[in-house]
Amino acid sequence: MVCESALTKKLFIKTYGCQMNVYDSARMADVLAPLGYKISATPRDADLVILNTCHIREKAAEKVFSELGRLKGFKGEKESGGGRMLIAVAGCVGQAEGDEVLRRAPQVDIVLGPQTYHRLPEIVARALGAVPGSGILETDFPIESKFDHLPEEAVSQGPAAFLSVQEGCDKFCTFCVVPYTRGTEFSRPVGEVVAEAERLVAAGAVEITLLGQNVNAYHGSAPDGRGSYGLGRLIRRLAEVDGLERLRYTTSHPRDMDDELVAAHGDVDKLMPYLHLPIQSGSDRILEAMNRRHAADDYRRVVERLRAARPDLALSSDFIVGFPGETDRDFAETLRVVTEIGFSQAYSFKYSPRPGTPAASAEGQVTDAVKNERLAMLQILLNEQQAAFNRASEGHTMAVLLERSGRRAGQLVGRSPYMQAVHLAAPPRLLGRIVEVRIDAGHPNSLAGCLVGDRSGGPTTRRPAAEPGDGLWEATI
Ligand code: 5AD
Ligand code: SF4
Repeated sequence: MVCESALTKKLFIKTYGCQMNVYDSARMADVLAPLGYKISATPRDADLVILNTCHIREKAAEKVFSELGRLKGFKGEKESGGGRMLIAVAGCVGQAEGDEVLRRAPQVDIVLGPQTYHRLPEIVARALGAVPGSGILETDFPIESKFDHLPEEAVSQGPAAFLSVQEGCDKFCTFCVVPYTRGTEFSRPVGEVVAEAERLVAAGAVEITLLGQNVNAYHGSAPDGRGSYGLGRLIRRLAEVDGLERLRYTTSHPRDMDDELVAAHGDVDKLMPYLHLPIQSGSDRILEAMNRRHAADDYRRVVERLRAARPDLALSSDFIVGFPGETDRDFAETLRVVTEIGFSQAYSFKYSPRPGTPAASAEGQVTDAVKNERLAMLQILLNEQQAAFNRASEGHTMAVLLERSGRRAGQLVGRSPYMQAVHLAAPPRLLGRIVEVRIDAGHPNSLAGCLVGDRSGGPTTRRPAAEPGDGLWEATI
């Protein structure tokens, strides 16, 4: 008889970057599970280590090389004990810089892109049979869709799960590597998405976040094969899945916010009142140079339509400072749009020139000192808005999905409908449930409250819309 430990192999996956990568990492674990690979919490002594990488900014890409240095030591340790550790670089760095990875880091056995990980069993088998040091590169864009080759059985993602519905991007913003690393737009058929949602719910998911690089450009073929569904219609269909209580989606482009999707925010109760909608800059000149194909006022109008449909909608965004050619005046426009719109949270970045993208070779590159200064100013404003938004939650009772244990004994952490992290004392049996929490404190990055009831399955509480003057949108710099 063979004992289980002889069959079980240790798999360590480290994920960088966006939620799409988090989803992909979970799916890589699914693909490898039938081969006996089980997730391990540490790369030490692992049989297979996968770095699922991000290429969006230089810093993210460089992190991979320093991690590979650390792994080289672990690989050496394992080999001196007579074992073998395979190291794989997956994701967008693999796709964009595969040759460079193998040249700079000969300890890497496998490089694969985001579109080829369904082939992992065969690639791993090949790597195990190969002479150590002869790296395998699998970064083509295959004709077959990986989604048709992923196993149906999934390792549970827990109460809040991700579901990839769309991939790739045809927009070609001039700063962005995504159209090159993830390829052209592709939408999964509605039937396939619904089936995966049902499986996720059966495995314990209460909330599903629909993912795509351009998720609101979704146009998956209809279940009857005639025509296609946009994202709004897909959301309505998914809201019918029993046991699924919450829906979110990310990341969106302002140009693809069609009427059906806006309307869904108004009348699909399961669609949470929080939206990540990147604007990048408030200056029309810079938006044009970025090839965003909309003006700042178009964004303002989209927000007006959304808030008309769902007055308590909380908004988040991405910003880039120091894009080539950005002047103080352009930057002031960004601050203006932030002040006018009001964000409940946001992500802001210094422009990072990416090889092969048009903006990397544009005139008027901005110095790092100026980028630092602008980033600091923008972040002060955004942090104040976030803190004000959180403070305004005090005294409200919110439906919170309890997702995990907190750092303190007896503490659980969940998410409010508005995507705020909420800490509270609650018994572990409530994990995965939606409970009513009275918010006692709104901190800069999270909320604290106490349990007032367990109404798992009930609708979320709608908070009254923010009124000018209630302190919600009043942050200034
Ligand atoms: N430099 C800085 N930020 C970038 N982003 C994308 N490309 C770059 C770049 N070259 C940011 C954008 C995008 C988010 C995911 O990352 O704001 O929305
Ligand atoms: Fe990148 Fe622009 Fe596509 Fe977003 S819309 S993935 S920023 S090219």
